[in-house]
Amino acid sequence: MRHNQLGKGGPFVSELGLGTMTFGAETDEAEAHRQLDAFAAAGGTFVDTADVYADGESESIVGRWLASRKPDNIMLATKARFRPPGGSSGASRRGIVKALDGSLRRLGVDAIDVFYVHGWDPDAALPDTLATLDAVVAAGKVHNIGWSNTTGWQLQRILDTTRHADLVQPVVFQPQYNLLDRVVEWELLPLCLEQGLAVCPWSPLGGGWLTGKYRPDSQPTGATRLGEDPARGVEAYHKRNKERVWRIIDAVRSVADQSGSWMGEVALRWLLTRPGVSSALVGARTVEQLQQSLTATELTLTADQLDRLTTVSAPGVPDYPYGMLERACGMTIWQELGTAAADGR
Ligand SMILES: NC(=O)c1ccc[n+]([C@@H]2O[C@H](COP(=O)([O-])OP(=O)(O)OC[C@H]3O[C@@H](n4cnc5c(N)ncnc54)[C@H](OP(=O)(O)O)[C@@H]3O)[C@@H](O)[C@H]2O)c1
Repeated sequence: MRHNQLGKGGPFVSELGLGTMTFGAETDEAEAHRQLDAFAAAGGTFVDTADVYADGESESIVGRWLASRKPDNIMLATKARFRPPGGSSGASRRGIVKALDGSLRRLGVDAIDVFYVHGWDPDAALPDTLATLDAVVAAGKVHNIGWSNTTGWQLQRILDTTRHADLVQPVVFQPQYNLLDRVVEWELLPLCLEQGLAVCPWSPLGGGWLTGKYRPDSQPTGATRLGEDPARGVEAYHKRNKERVWRIIDAVRSVADQSGSWMGEVALRWLLTRPGVSSALVGARTVEQLQQSLTATELTLTADQLDRLTTVSAPGVPDYPYGMLERACGMTIWQELGTAAADGR
């Protein structure tokens, strides 16, 4: 498996990260440990959890695996902000310090490799949040900072504030990003490219949609995410049961058939070719599902196949300001900033 560096000076991590949101929820501990074993055996090193997953149980399951296997190359990422759901101290000083201590205890480690703020917190004073993150790095409890789930201006403000106050800079941003949802390309990805932040997308399989298992003419059933809860999250059936989504899924199926591969593998490989993407955080209910995703590390898609996927999934640019600027500049803002980053401008 390839390894990529997170941002400037961050750690090298495997291009597929193992998401552990299912651990302690739809995946029990024995199956979770089988997933971690399979991931490590395939050369995976990047494990992504959060204090809020299964109310801390995901971290505890990962912690017990670390204690029993004692691997020395795992890069551990966790997140703070949302635990307990609805009642946390968010990204305040108290919230961050309390969450970090809980995560260190459940994971059984002295330090976290990548500690994310799980989402923007309108109730926290951003300078306090950033000073607290700086302090936990200085204390050796955290090695690198990341952010997840912000808008473009919020992430820019985080970067400006850390820079002006000479505080530790984040090395990675974790957004939802996949063939079905590319809105981050309007603002967040160009910003990450320009500022040298690594991008580690969550839900690279669209929460299961890009495996081709859902159908336009029937409600999901059975032991699948939407079979168990059709209204769940960003991937809810009623939100995605749209013509555009089925067109993209058909294109993924056609590329998979043509390349003799599996649909999820195609979706993952497309994502890993996008500018700035360092590691895709894949999730699985079973070890068999994970094994299928791990094959994506060996797949190569042709330029034509990648173009077809990029074209069919184009995120539909709002006419103002993006569309107007595209017409005025003759290229997309995305390309413009991508070129600027590549030139070191
Ligand atoms: N920062 C954030 O706010 C945030 C939010 C969400 C996730 N994350 C992180 O990102 C990770 C991945 O997110 P995700 O789980 O939504 O990602 P995903 O990889 O898009 O979806 C994973 C789900 O797809 C289905 N699946 C996977 N392989 C399959 C296969 N071979 N055949 C059929 N179905 C298959 C499984 O669901 P079923 O079988 O149950 O249908 C599995 O749980 C999480 O574990 C977490 O670490 C972060």
